[in-house]
Amino acid sequence: MPQESAVYTHGHHESVLRSHTWRTAANSAGYLLASLRPDMRILDVGCGPGTITADLAALVPDGEVTGLEYAPDILPQARATATARGVTNVHFAVGDVHALDYPDDAFDVVHAHQVLQHVGDPVQALREMRRVTAPGGIVAVRDADYSAMTWYPAVDGLPGWLDLYLRVARANGGEPDAGRRLHAWARQAGFDPAGITATAGTWCYHTPQERSWWSELWADRTVTSAYAGTAVDGGHATPEELARIGRAWREWGAQEDGWFTVLHGEILCRV
Ligand SMILES: C[S@@+](CC[C@H](N)C(=O)[O-])C[C@H]1O[C@@H](n2cnc3c(N)ncnc32)[C@H](O)[C@@H]1O
Repeated sequence: MPQESAVYTHGHHESVLRSHTWRTAANSAGYLLASLRPDMRILDVGCGPGTITADLAALVPDGEVTGLEYAPDILPQARATATARGVTNVHFAVGDVHALDYPDDAFDVVHAHQVLQHVGDPVQALREMRRVTAPGGIVAVRDADYSAMTWYPAVDGLPGWLDLYLRVARANGGEPDAGRRLHAWARQAGFDPAGITATAGTWCYHTPQERSWWSELWADRTVTSAYAGTAVDGGHATPEELARIGRAWREWGAQEDGWFTVLHGEILCRV
């Protein structure tokens, strides 16, 4: 029985998937890779378009990976990615992280990338992730921390982008500053603090190609994705304000000295 009370802020618009499909196990799950063994059973919660999921499957050739999604509409793309890469030890299912439809101890690794910031009850999500992980296994979680994102140079309009994003994501029932809270949520979920390793990771965009890609996708997201709809319908911004924020993103992207860093919290929790 689904228990999700939050609305997924981004939705799966093309401008959102432009960033999600860029993700790999190397650039998004590096903190986990040294813990993987070839025969592991992995659950990838909130797998989205499944590029990380397919990478994880390639890293456990004698194991099995399950990609789980709350939103069924994205799963055909995830399946197509796995098929195109010739990865056969992966399958996908619909489900809710708050109430996982798996028995206790079913997996060796339960992984979630950029998911807990969007769910209504991240502590319950972590309890469920722990329940389905076998003793000796690992729960691995990584989430961005929006208030810790930083950039150069200052551009009028980008502080307004951040302020609006924080308000919309919280109105949707999520916590956009999840990164700094992951270890605390894990403790509240019952993990032994001695078994929690908390680290931080980054994405950094500064080449002309990176600046163009990152600024364009945020400019487009701001005016065309599900986020834009919620921002306007919820009374958080007018379409004109969204258009102004989109222009601010393009202005930042055009700066020769442009530099943008996303900070992520990461936890590896031993079960
Ligand atoms: C930001 S995307 C991350 C996708 C993928 N992990 C990645 O990093 O590319 C978050 C995903 O979590 C999914 N999601 C949101 N709430 C969920 C829930 N309660 N249970 C499972 N998945 C959920 C969304 O549908 C979305 O695809």
